[in-house]
Amino acid sequence: MIKKVVVLYYTQSGQLKRAVDATLEPLRRQSSITVEYVQLNPIKPFPFPWGFMEFFGAFADTVQGKPCELEPVDESQLSNADLIILAYQPWFLTISQPMHSFLQSEQAERGLHGKAVVTLVACRNMWINAQEAVKAHLQRIEASLVGHIAFVDRAPNLISLITVVAYVMGGIKGRFLGIFPKYGFSESELNAKASQYGACLVQAVETAEYKNLEDQLLQHGAVQVASSLMVMEGRGKILFPLYARFLTKNGSASPGQKQFRVAIFGIVLPMLILVLSPILTVVAWLMPFISPDKMNREVTYYQHVAFRKEVG
Ligand SMILES: Cc1cc2nc3c(=O)[nH]c(=O)nc-3n(C[C@H](O)[C@H](O)[C@H](O)COP(=O)(O)O)c2cc1C
Repeated sequence: MIKKVVVLYYTQSGQLKRAVDATLEPLRRQSSITVEYVQLNPIKPFPFPWGFMEFFGAFADTVQGKPCELEPVDESQLSNADLIILAYQPWFLTISQPMHSFLQSEQAERGLHGKAVVTLVACRNMWINAQEAVKAHLQRIEASLVGHIAFVDRAPNLISLITVVAYVMGGIKGRFLGIFPKYGFSESELNAKASQYGACLVQAVETAEYKNLEDQLLQHGAVQVASSLMVMEGRGKILFPLYARFLTKNGSASPGQKQFRVAIFGIVLPMLILVLSPILTVVAWLMPFISPDKMNREVTYYQHVAFRKEVG
């Protein structure tokens, strides 16, 4: 019997789609497997490249998980899928608005319920909070997360912070100013690794046996968690909702006042990140020495699909 794999995805520049295509190439070559794509389309498209006010203006809604309106997806495509690939990118340390909106929808409840799901992210380097949010949605929907794949930018954190801004706000797809590396996952990593992950998926789909998939993907290096980035994300996870609350507090503020707050925030946030990053980097480097067991436990947890629901 022919097996059906459905990719649910949203992408702005096409970077995520390229990672998906390369990963699924081995599946598309199989006559026993069909691969179908379902793209999420916000009714009001997000801009690319982003303007300053649009970018920082999207922060509060994204962090607070406010859904945007999406065109309905064709549910018949999902109904008889053997495996669903949920391909998304993090925005502001949580799920990007289009994918987050879909996961909150009744269509997701119907379409993903009882399904095997593999998540695939392509981003700068901070996806673990977003993935925890995805895990929570999948658990609520009673879908079964069976594997995860993460393509990230391997440049040092502050370098990729500059290049991601040039990419998403300047639309610069090559080397920024001719001196910075190209933003995104490396082509050589994609060429070397994506087909290996795809081969793991082929085996799992053909045998309908998903319980070893996450370990096989991990053995091929599909999920690498850097402890320093994990520590930094942990701080952001606490601070971002506070910033979002500051931007949205006093719902009766006039549009002009709200715009003013966003503009101030857009100047203060990058400055804070630039100042705090080196400090947090040092703290993050020290953490494995201070509490090595805890760090190892956390890294291992975030590499896996198991979900530890946080209390409180
Ligand atoms: C509004 C916004 C916020 C982002 N926040 C993050 C983030 O928190 N972590 C991260 O690793 N990448 C972040 N990125 C980068 C994206 O995950 C992604 O790499 C980039 O937008 C290209 O994705 P695309 O396939 O949609 O074009 C952000 C991008 C945008 C536009």
